[in-house]
Amino acid sequence: MSGWDFDALSALLERRYSCRAFRAEPVPAEAIERIVAAAGRAPSWCNAQPWQAVVTRGDETGRFRRALLAAVAEGPPAPDMPWPEDYPGVHGVRRRICGQQLYEAVGIARGDRAARDAQMMRNFHLFDAPHVAIIHSEAALGPYGAMDCGGFVTAFMLAATALGVASVAQASVVAYPGAIRAHFGLPDSRQLLCAISFGYAEEGDAANGFRTGRAGLDDILDLRG
Ligand SMILES: Cc1cc2nc3c(=O)[nH]c(=O)nc-3n(C[C@H](O)[C@H](O)[C@H](O)COP(=O)(O)O)c2cc1C
Repeated sequence: MSGWDFDALSALLERRYSCRAFRAEPVPAEAIERIVAAAGRAPSWCNAQPWQAVVTRGDETGRFRRALLAAVAEGPPAPDMPWPEDYPGVHGVRRRICGQQLYEAVGIARGDRAARDAQMMRNFHLFDAPHVAIIHSEAALGPYGAMDCGGFVTAFMLAATALGVASVAQASVVAYPGAIRAHFGLPDSRQLLCAISFGYAEEGDAANGFRTGRAGLDDILDLRG
């Protein structure tokens, strides 16, 4: 790989962030197709390519948002893929820090439960994004199908970044899989893994005004020999 390739990829990885406020302006269909086609180059075990993406645009995004909000009101969440049971040690610390960064950015005071809940509800409004992609896999492929789809999700968000399109992955949205499958007419054999709300960033919005940190290389790499 040439230095140019590495620099270009690093720049994309640096530039991508989770966008939580979008402009209404739609992304052209051609750009959506390019993003999904590029993401489809992600590797998967046996090249099974378990991912499929329902992508909404126009009025359909609003219809889906209303169906999702109705499902949330009925509750409780029941995701196809169980949420983590715990975030032990440093993982819990990182989780808390990224939450605090968001609350500080949008001016939510420590302990203001109502404001936190309102911010959390923004997930189900898709942060006003004009599009959402629902990523689903063949349930029979189990955890490896989910793992393959994780690669697809990352590739999707990097491809979007390369076209100036902002995005946020959302596990929260697919916590209501029954209602989502019913809305889109998906069979029970498709496991819902993640949503990606996307569009053009509302640059000045406070929710987009912070960037998360990362562990140092020493915390990740255990180079032997
Ligand atoms: C699988 C997955 C699920 C996520 N679910 C949510 C979510 O439901 N709501 C949300 O606001 N952010 C969600 N995120 C975004 C993460 O909080 C974010 O990626 C992380 O804090 C790192 O920040 P960055 O994306 O800005 O680099 C999710 C990210 C991933 C990869």
